[in-house]
Amino acid sequence: MSIIFNEQERSFTLSNGRISYVMQLFLEGYLGHLYFGRTLKHFNIKRAFYQTEREGAPNPELHADARTFSLDVLPQEYAIYGSGDYRIPALEATLSNGTTTLDLRYKSHEIFAGKKPLQGLPASFVNADSEADTLEITMQEVGGELEVVLSYTIFNDLDVIARSARIKNVGNGNVYLRKAASLSLDLPSTDFDRVSMYGKHAFERNVERVPLGHGIAIDSSTRGATSHQHQNFLALCEHNADEFHGEVYACGLVWSGNFEAATEVSPYGNTRMVMGINGFDFKWELKPSDSFTTPEALLVFTQDGFNGMSQNFHGFVQKHLVRGEHRDALRPVLVNSWEAAYMDFNEDSIVNFAKDAVKLGAELIVLDDGWFGVRDKDNCSLGDWTILNAKKLPNGLKGLADRIHALGSKFGLWVEPEMVSPDSELFRAHPDWALGVPNHVRSQQRNQYVLDLSRQEVRDYVVDAICKVLGSADIDYVKWDMNRNLTDIGSATLPASQQQEVATRFVLGTYDIMERITKAFPHILFESCAGGGRRFDLGMIYYMPQVWTSDNTDEVCRQRIQYGTSYVFPPITMGCHVSACPNHQVGRSTPMLSRFVCAMSGNFGYEMDLGKLSPEEQEEVKGHIALYKELRPTIQKGKFFRLMSPFEGTKNETSWQFVSQDGSEVIFMYFKNECLPQGNIRKVRLTALDPNATYKVTKHLFTPSLAVNALDYLSNYNLEGDVFGGDELMEFGLNMDKVDRDFAAHLLVFKRQ
Ligand code: GLA
Repeated sequence: MSIIFNEQERSFTLSNGRISYVMQLFLEGYLGHLYFGRTLKHFNIKRAFYQTEREGAPNPELHADARTFSLDVLPQEYAIYGSGDYRIPALEATLSNGTTTLDLRYKSHEIFAGKKPLQGLPASFVNADSEADTLEITMQEVGGELEVVLSYTIFNDLDVIARSARIKNVGNGNVYLRKAASLSLDLPSTDFDRVSMYGKHAFERNVERVPLGHGIAIDSSTRGATSHQHQNFLALCEHNADEFHGEVYACGLVWSGNFEAATEVSPYGNTRMVMGINGFDFKWELKPSDSFTTPEALLVFTQDGFNGMSQNFHGFVQKHLVRGEHRDALRPVLVNSWEAAYMDFNEDSIVNFAKDAVKLGAELIVLDDGWFGVRDKDNCSLGDWTILNAKKLPNGLKGLADRIHALGSKFGLWVEPEMVSPDSELFRAHPDWALGVPNHVRSQQRNQYVLDLSRQEVRDYVVDAICKVLGSADIDYVKWDMNRNLTDIGSATLPASQQQEVATRFVLGTYDIMERITKAFPHILFESCAGGGRRFDLGMIYYMPQVWTSDNTDEVCRQRIQYGTSYVFPPITMGCHVSACPNHQVGRSTPMLSRFVCAMSGNFGYEMDLGKLSPEEQEEVKGHIALYKELRPTIQKGKFFRLMSPFEGTKNETSWQFVSQDGSEVIFMYFKNECLPQGNIRKVRLTALDPNATYKVTKHLFTPSLAVNALDYLSNYNLEGDVFGGDELMEFGLNMDKVDRDFAAHLLVFKRQ
C-alpha cells in the first residue's frame, strides 16, 4: 500500500517509491503539510515544522503551545480564512449566519485502492485499482455547517498526485461558497521561479518564467473558458532548473472554465500555491445536504527539469485522462477545408478537394464551418444544426459522406454546439436560451451568443440536434468548436441567489453534453477546438483525445505554440497542419519542408487545397505524407523531449526530439528562423539515447542552402548513412552550425544499430 497513516505520529504518507507527500495532524486536528518531493526512506517529523512565537501571528486559544503555534505560519493542506491565516485561502464561504470565519479540523479518513470518479466532472481514472491508491480526509468546520473531504490519489506508474475537495453543507441553513480551490500547497522555500503561460488568439501558450517575489502573484481567467490569454498550468522550479535538471513542482487543472492560479510568498520563508476555479464572480449556494465538488488538480514533482515534468504529464494524459477507443489508435492524416474554401463550397467542390488530397495520401477529409442553415458568413445559423443547406449539399451530409468514403477516405465534420447566432431559427424560437442579463443588451463576439447550458432543456436540445446530425451520415470525425468567451452571464431560470453559479454551470453543462454525445458515438474521433487553442486544457482532453492547437498555422509561430503546449500535452493530442503560403494569419512564406517538419511534430494534417499546388509541390507533399505515416508510431506513441527553447537563448532556434517506445528510432527536428551572418557554433545535444549504442541516420531532410558562397561544407551536407554514438549525440551533440537561409529546418531519423 502506498498510503500509510501513522497513528502515533498522526501523519499521512503517500509514496510510490519515487515521490512522497507527507501530512500531519497538529494540535486539535489542524492538517499541516510537511513534505512533497523525492521519496524519503526515513523522516523524523518531530523536526519537520519550525514552531516559534511570531509577533502578529494569531494563536488558537485553549492550547498550552498557544503562542508558538499559528495558522499564519503552519504549512497547510487546505487553507481557510478568518481563524488566523492571512495568506490566500483555498476555501471561502459565507455561513448561514452571515459570517465568514472558517476553522477546519480533522474528523476521519479513509484509504482505499484505486480512485473514485468525480460526479459530473472530468477527472483522471485508473484502468485497474492496482494503479493507484486514494486517501480521503474529512475535515469538519467547527461551527458544524460544513464538511470538507480532501481527496489525494497517488499513482504507481507516474509521479502525479491528483487532488480535489468535496464541500458539503451538513447544517440546517444555506451556506454560500465564495471560493473553493482544488488545492493549496505550502512549500518550505521561497527560492523559486514561477513558470506560467500567456497568449492571445492565434498565439497561445507562450512560456514565461520569472523569479518569485514576495506577496501574491495571480494568473486567472474570467472569460468563462480557460482562454487564449491564460493557461491553467503553473510550475515552481529551482532557479537553476532547465529542461533536463532541477526540481519542478507543477500543477495542471482538469477544468475548462474560469480559474485562478495563485502564489504567495510569505515573510517566513514559505511559498503557497493555490489553484482552482476562480473565486472572482463565483458564489455557489449550498442548501442543507448539498455538496460541491471542485475540479481535480494534478500535481507533479520531478528532479529532472521540465522534460521530466512533461514526461509525467504526457504519460498521465494518455493513460489516465484520455478515454475511448481512439486513445491507443494511430490518428489519421487529415485535410481540413477551412483555409482552402472557408464557407464557399458545395458538394462537388468538396469532393474535388478530397480527390486531390486522397491522391496524395490523406486519410480523413474534414468539412469545416458553413454546411448548415443558410451559413455563408459567420453571422448566422449557429444552432440550426438540423436545417440542411440544400444549395451547398443537395444530397445532404449523407450524399457527401458517401462520396468521400467512396474515394477511400474517412469523413469528418465541424460543429459548434455551445453557441447560437442571433440570426437563427433557434434564437428566434428561444431568445431566453442564450446567456443574458435583464435590461442589458447582450454583447456579441463573432456575431454569436452563448447558449445557457446551465438549463437542462437547452442541453437536451443540443444533444438531440447534434446526435441527429451525427446519425444522419457516416461520420468518422468531429471538430467541436467554441468561438467566443462568455459575457452577460445570467440565466433566465435560476433565482437571484444562484446567478453567480452560471459561469461554472455553463462549463458543467458543456461537460454534460460532451459526455452524452461522445458516449452516443464511441467510434467517432472527436477533436476539440475553441477558436484554435482557447480551451486546450486537461478538462477537454477527458472528452476528446485531440485538440486543434491554434488557428495560427504559421510554422514560425507554431514552434512556440507547440513548444509551450508540450509542457503538459503530448504531441498525439496536438492538431498540427501545414497551410498555404503566404500564411493566412501572419502573411509569412516559409518552405514547404519547414512547414512539414513543424506540423509533423504532432497530429499531422493539411489546412489547404492540395489540388492548387504545382505538380512538383504535390510530389513533395505525397512524400511528406508517406514519411509521416512511416514515422507516425514514434511521433504519436513515443516519447517527446524538448531540446532548445524558442523562448530562451537566441529565441531564434527550436529543437525537439522523439524516441520510439522501444528506443530503436529517434527523430530529431531543428528549426532556425532568421539567418544571421557569421552564425555561431551550435551544437544541439540529444537526450534519452543508449550511450552504449550507435545510431545510423536513415533520413535527413533539410531546407537547401540559398547561399551563393558554396565554401561552407556543412550547408548542404546530407548525413544519411552516417553513424553516431548515442553518447556522442548526447554529450558532443549534433553540429547545426551553418544555416544559410531564413526558416531553415532539419529532420533527421536515426535507427539504433
Ligand atoms: C474557428 C476554428 C477554425 C475554423 C473556424 C470556423 O476559428 O478555430 O479552425 O473551424 O472556427 O468558423
